[in-house]
Parts: sequence; structure tokens; C-alpha cells
Amino acid sequence: MLKSNWIKLALLGSFVFLLLTWFISGSLTRIEGLAAESDQINMAAVPDANNDDYVGTETCKACHEDQFKSFEKTKHSKLSKIDSWKDKVQGCESCHGPGKAHVEGGGDKTKIINFKNLDPKTASDTCLACHEGKETHNNFRRGEHWRNDIGCTQCHSAHPKSEPVAESGSMTLIKEQPTTAMLKQGEPQLCLSCHNEQKSQFTKPFHHKVLEGTMKCTDCHNAHGGFESKQTKLAVGADIACIKCHSNKAGPFVFEHAPAKLEGCTACHIPHGSSNPKMLKRPSVRQLCFECHTGITEELSPQAPSLHNQAQVRYQNCTVCHSAIHGSNSSNRFFR
Ligand code: HEC
Ligand code: HEC
Ligand code: HEC
Ligand code: HEC
Ligand code: HEC
Ligand code: HEC
Ligand code: HEC
Ligand code: HEC
Ligand code: HEC
Ligand code: HEC
Repeated sequence: MLKSNWIKLALLGSFVFLLLTWFISGSLTRIEGLAAESDQINMAAVPDANNDDYVGTETCKACHEDQFKSFEKTKHSKLSKIDSWKDKVQGCESCHGPGKAHVEGGGDKTKIINFKNLDPKTASDTCLACHEGKETHNNFRRGEHWRNDIGCTQCHSAHPKSEPVAESGSMTLIKEQPTTAMLKQGEPQLCLSCHNEQKSQFTKPFHHKVLEGTMKCTDCHNAHGGFESKQTKLAVGADIACIKCHSNKAGPFVFEHAPAKLEGCTACHIPHGSSNPKMLKRPSVRQLCFECHTGITEELSPQAPSLHNQAQVRYQNCTVCHSAIHGSNSSNRFFR
């Protein structure tokens, strides 16, 4: 009896031990992961913390409990745990600037950076000081968002909020803002809040299921700008974004269909949605083909017998014969 209690206790003990190790090693790998990510940050632009003008996050916390709590949910709050950041300014003052004068002034509003008073470009400069080290962000100033005064803080919140959404009896249901990348709203709502005119394209009979939540705008677009037109994640000729999901269209093929290689998928498809099957640019396949292949029909002399005589229905459906229309490894006419 006594013995079996000991065994139970030992088992319970080792279980707790395992749980703890799992938990600690889990959070260690998370921190290591963050340390690796933050290596791409432009550390040279981050000031040294050994400067009397900086008072530290704990000081701010004393008067701004709410902002501290929301800040704690973000990756920014974890930087203090990374060795390479220990002597660097991080926490509140990495964005709001040195706080000594503000604190000594008893919370003097004029002596601290307040984002409400900053125009979008200046606000973004604050963030870019660190973030432009990273490949995906250092083109932000080349993008349409920057040029049209859409800054980081229109899409991201440094202080993600939790809002009460409903009361039921004594219970208050709290709606957490999506903490994914500190976005102010989830996709696609975030994007559609400004790009409402795109919404109707995703309700066309043939469309990518963005509104249904199967895919996101950022599967194809880079919200942070880049070299491609329309801020797409496509690369001309390779169409990386499309091929990520439609890998069988990728090639390389022995016989490439020139437009797929040169202009990319949008030579023939409307990417958001279309009234035409297969999201094609034209209502029928042959109309699409004729846009480029004007010479193959005998329309000028319909009497002439021809393989492609459009008076004959069976020659109208081009992809019945040219079925490997995206490219082929065995047929230079894309028959298979
Ligand atoms: C990553 C940059 C960043 C960090 C770190 C940061 N803030 Fe902010 N703070 C902002 C931005 C941007 C705003 C404007 C509102 C927003 O976007 O959420 C803001 C708003 C505020 C406001 C104004 C109140 C409001 O809701 O508009 C206060 C006060 C504040 N922050 C205090 C703090 C404190 C205290 C800390 C540290 C615990 C901190 N901030 C950390 C960027 C930052
Ligand atoms: C002694 C208390 C105190 C401390 C410490 C303190 N603040 Fe404040 N802070 C205030 C008061 C008071 C205001 C003015 C609030 C108002 O008028 O709405 C203020 C305003 C602000 C604002 C502008 C918010 C707005 O709505 O206009 C920001 C941003 C801010 N503080 C950030 C910080 C940061 C960052 C730190 C740490 C470096 C810090 N504060 C430390 C008391 C303090
Ligand atoms: C002191 C440098 C620094 C400043 C200033 C800074 N950040 Fe960051 N931020 C980081 C680091 C480091 C990370 C973690 C590594 C990463 O995700 O790139 C990070 C992560 C993020 C993330 C990813 C969050 C996630 O959960 O994946 C977002 C979004 C972000 N920052 C936005 C901002 C915005 C917006 C501003 C300006 C208001 C800003 N940052 C200012 C250093 C900074
Ligand atoms: C038009 C909206 C928008 C703007 C403006 C914007 N972002 Fe983002 N950001 C997003 C979205 C959406 C994601 C998540 C999807 C993704 O990673 O593409 C994201 C992800 C991130 C991430 C985490 C993923 C990564 O790439 O490391 C960071 C860090 C970040 N943004 C920083 C910034 C900074 C800094 C700015 C300003 C220079 C900024 N963002 C401007 C929408 C935006
Ligand atoms: C705060 C408003 C706002 C938000 C949020 C926003 N955008 Fe934009 N976006 C603009 C403005 C303004 C332009 C420039 C004018 C235009 O082309 O409509 C623009 C331009 C673009 C362009 C380039 C259009 C072109 O003609 O080159 C793309 C693509 C784009 N946004 C995608 C997105 C995606 C994806 C999201 C969500 C992650 C998003 N936007 C969120 C305001 C916004
Ligand atoms: C399947 C990939 C894909 C998805 C998903 C996608 N886009 Fe696009 N989008 C594109 C491509 C490709 C273009 C360029 C079209 C062209 O050049 O003909 C484009 C163009 C745009 C433009 C430029 C204006 C225009 O019509 O040419 C805006 C704005 C835009 N997209 C916003 C969005 C928003 C907002 C979402 C999410 C609701 C979204 N896109 C989802 C691929 C996509
Ligand atoms: C995130 C994955 C993803 C990306 C990126 C993507 N697609 Fe799609 N696509 C799908 C899925 C899933 C379907 C299936 C249709 C549905 O949603 O019902 C589809 C359907 C299609 C169809 C219609 C197929 C049919 O049988 O009607 C075409 C054409 C297409 N995509 C072209 C493109 C092009 C061009 C791009 C790049 C601009 C692209 N896709 C990017 C996932 C993706
Ligand atoms: C030269 C015009 C053209 C180009 C360029 C093109 N497509 Fe197509 N695509 C078509 C036609 C035509 C169909 C319809 C075939 C049929 O009749 O069934 C089609 C059908 C599709 C389908 C649905 C049917 C299937 O085979 O799964 C997908 C998905 C698709 N294309 C993706 C892409 C992607 C991704 C690219 C870029 C790599 C691309 N297309 C480039 C003409 C083109
Ligand atoms: C955006 C323009 C464009 C569209 C649309 C287009 N093609 Fe092509 N296609 C080309 C070009 C350019 C070549 C290469 C011609 C060359 O090398 O002489 C080509 C080559 C071909 C070839 C190989 C024979 C040859 O002359 O090299 C066939 C077969 C073909 N296309 C069929 C089609 C069919 C069927 C459609 C409709 C589904 C179609 N194409 C749509 C531009 C287009
Ligand atoms: C019944 C099968 C069939 C149909 C349907 C068909 N083709 Fe062809 N196509 C062929 C054959 C076979 C050839 C090869 C002719 C040759 O090599 O001399 C060919 C060749 C071509 C070529 C290469 C250029 C040339 O003159 O040799 C193009 C471009 C082409 N077809 C486009 C189309 C278009 C566009 C349609 C739809 C309007 C279409 N085809 C419908 C069988 C077909």
C-alpha cells in the first residue's frame, strides 16, 4: 500500500519534471528563434542603453500599466531576454525615445514621442531604424504604401488591444486582437478596409477563396513593397507566388509556352477573380488564344480547308488538342 503510494508520487514527480523541462526548453527555443530573427535587425542604428537619458521600461510601467500590459504581448518585450540586446535600448524607449525629461516633468506630454502627433512617414522611420535591416522590409520606401502615406502603424499596433465584445450574465467575453504580427485586424479585413474596390472581384463566379479564408492577400502580395509592379510576390518569368500552390504549372519545360515564361500567369489569368471559367481573361479559350495567335485561322477565306478552320466547331476548342497549354516536355505544339 505504502509502496504503491511512493510509486505514484515518483511518477507524478517525474511527470511534473518532464513538463517543466518541456516548458522551459520550449521557451528557450522560442527565445533562440527570436534571437536569430533579430540578428537581421540593423543593430548599429540601435542606441546604447548606457545613457542617463534612458530610464528603462520598469519606470514607464509605474504610470502606464495598460500600455505595459499590451506591450508585454508583443515580441518587442522579449528582446530584453536576448544577450546581444542587453546593453541596447529596447522596450518603451526604443520607440518613444528617451524618457528622462518626460518623467522628471511628471509626465510632460511635450517631452516624449507621441505617435498620434507623427505623420505616417516619420512614424515609419522610427520602426525602420531597426526593421530595414531585414530583406522583406528594406524595400518599404519603394512601395505604393509608403508613397501614399500608409505607414507601419496603420497596419500594425505596438499596443494590441483586447476589447470586451459581449456581456452574457456576469461573464464578459473578451475579443483578443489578432496578435499575429501585431496586426490591427486580421486579413483580409485589414486590406479590404482600404481596398474595398477589390472585394467585388473576389465574389465573381470564378475566384480565389480569399473572402472564404482559404488564402490571404499576402500569399500573393508583399504589404511591405518590393520591386514587382502591384507589390506582388511574383517574379517575372517565375511567378513564385502562383507556383507555390500550382507547382505543376512551374516547369521548367522542354517546350515552354512563351507568355507563361516571359509575362507570367497574368498574361492569361485574372488573379483575383473573373466571370470566365478558369479565371481566364476572355470568356472563351479561343478568344484568349486569338489575342496573340492571329495568323492561324482562315477567317479571311473560310472556304479554304484548314486544320484550324473556325467554321468547324471541333477546331474551336483549342485546349482539346493543345492540352498542355502551360508547357510540355514532349510536344512543341503542347499536345500532351
Ligand atoms: C514598437 C514601438 C513601441 C514600443 C516598444 C512601445 N510603444 Fe507605446 N506607442 C507606440 C505607438 C506606435 C503608439 C500609437 C498607438 C498604437 O499604434 O498602438 C503608442 C502609444 C502609446 C501611448 C499613448 C496612448 C495611446 O494608447 O495612444 C502611451 C502612453 C505609450 N505608447 C506608452 C508606452 C509604454 C509605457 C511602453 C513600454 C511598456 C511603450 N509605449 C512601448 C509604439 C511603441
Ligand atoms: C510619473 C509618471 C509617468 C512616468 C514614469 C511616465 N509617464 Fe508617460 N505620461 C504620464 C502622464 C501623466 C502623461 C499625460 C497623460 C495625459 O495627459 O493623458 C503621460 C503621457 C505619455 C505619452 C503621451 C500619451 C498621450 O495620450 O498623449 C506617452 C507616449 C508616454 N507618456 C510614454 C511614456 C514612456 C515611454 C515612459 C517611460 C520612459 C513614461 N511615459 C513614463 C506619466 C508618466
Ligand atoms: C529597437 C528596434 C526596434 C524598433 C524601433 C521596432 N522594432 Fe519591431 N521588432 C524588433 C525586433 C528585434 C523584432 C523581432 C524580430 C523580427 O520579427 O524581425 C521585432 C518584431 C516586430 C514585428 C513582428 C511581430 C510578430 O509577432 O511576428 C512587428 C510587426 C514589428 N516588429 C513592428 C514594429 C513597428 C510597427 C515598429 C514601430 C512602431 C517597430 N516594430 C519598431 C525591433 C524593433
Ligand atoms: C499595408 C499594411 C502593412 C504595412 C503598411 C506594414 N505592414 Fe508589416 N505586415 C503586414 C502584414 C499583413 C503582415 C503579415 C503577413 C506577412 O508577413 O506578409 C506583416 C508582417 C510584418 C512583420 C513580421 C513578419 C516579417 O516579415 O518579419 C514585421 C516585422 C512587420 N510586418 C513590420 C513592419 C514595419 C516595420 C512596417 C513599416 C516600415 C510595416 N510592417 C508596414 C502589413 C503591413
Ligand atoms: C490604411 C489603408 C490601407 C491598408 C490597410 C492597406 N492598403 Fe494597400 N494601398 C493603400 C493605398 C492608399 C495605396 C496606393 C493607392 C492605390 O493603389 O490604391 C495602396 C496600394 C496597394 C497596392 C499596389 C497597387 C498598385 O496599383 O500598385 C497593393 C498591391 C496593396 N495596396 C495591397 C494591400 C494589401 C495586401 C493590404 C493588406 C495586407 C493592404 N494593401 C492594406 C492603402 C491601404
Ligand atoms: C492569387 C494571388 C492574389 C491574391 C490572393 C490577391 N492578389 Fe491582388 N493582385 C495579384 C496580381 C498578380 C496583381 C497584378 C494584376 C495585374 O498586373 O494585372 C494584383 C493586383 C492588385 C492591386 C492593384 C490594382 C489592380 O487591380 O491592378 C491591388 C490594390 C490588389 N491586388 C489588392 C489585393 C487585395 C486587397 C487582396 C486581398 C483581398 C489581393 N489583392 C489578393 C494577385 C493576387
Ligand atoms: C495560397 C495558394 C495559392 C496561390 C498563391 C495561388 N493560387 Fe490559384 N488556386 C488556389 C486554389 C486552392 C485554387 C482552387 C480554387 C478554389 O479556391 O476553389 C486555385 C485556383 C486557381 C485557378 C482556377 C482553377 C480552376 O479549375 O478553376 C487558376 C487559373 C489559378 N488558381 C491561377 C493562379 C494564379 C495565376 C496565381 C498567381 C497570381 C495563383 N493561382 C496563386 C491556390 C492558390
Ligand atoms: C498562354 C495563356 C496561359 C498562361 C500564360 C497561363 N495559363 Fe493557366 N490556363 C490557361 C488556359 C487556356 C487554361 C484552361 C485550360 C482548359 O481549357 O482546361 C488554364 C488553366 C489553368 C488552371 C486550371 C486548370 C488546371 O490545369 O489545373 C490553373 C490552376 C492555371 N491555369 C494556373 C496557371 C498558372 C499558375 C500560370 C503561371 C505559371 C498560368 N496558369 C499561366 C492559359 C494560360
Ligand atoms: C499572350 C500571348 C499568347 C497567348 C494568349 C497564347 N499564346 Fe501561344 N504562343 C505565344 C507565343 C509568343 C508563342 C511562341 C511563338 C514562337 O516562338 O514563334 C506561342 C506558342 C504557341 C504554340 C507553339 C507553336 C509555336 O508556334 O511555337 C502553340 C501550339 C500555342 N502557342 C498555342 C496557344 C493556344 C492554344 C493558346 C490559347 C489557349 C495560346 N497559345 C495563347 C503567345 C501566346
Ligand atoms: C483537332 C486538334 C486541334 C485543335 C482543336 C486546334 N489545333 Fe492548333 N494545331 C493542331 C495541330 C495538329 C497543329 C500542328 C500543325 C503543324 O505542325 O503543321 C497545330 C498547330 C498550332 C499552332 C502552331 C502554329 C502553326 O500554325 O503550326 C498554333 C499557334 C495553334 N495550333 C493554335 C491553335 C488555336 C488557337 C486553336 C483554337 C482556336 C487550335 N490550335 C485548335 C491541332 C489542333
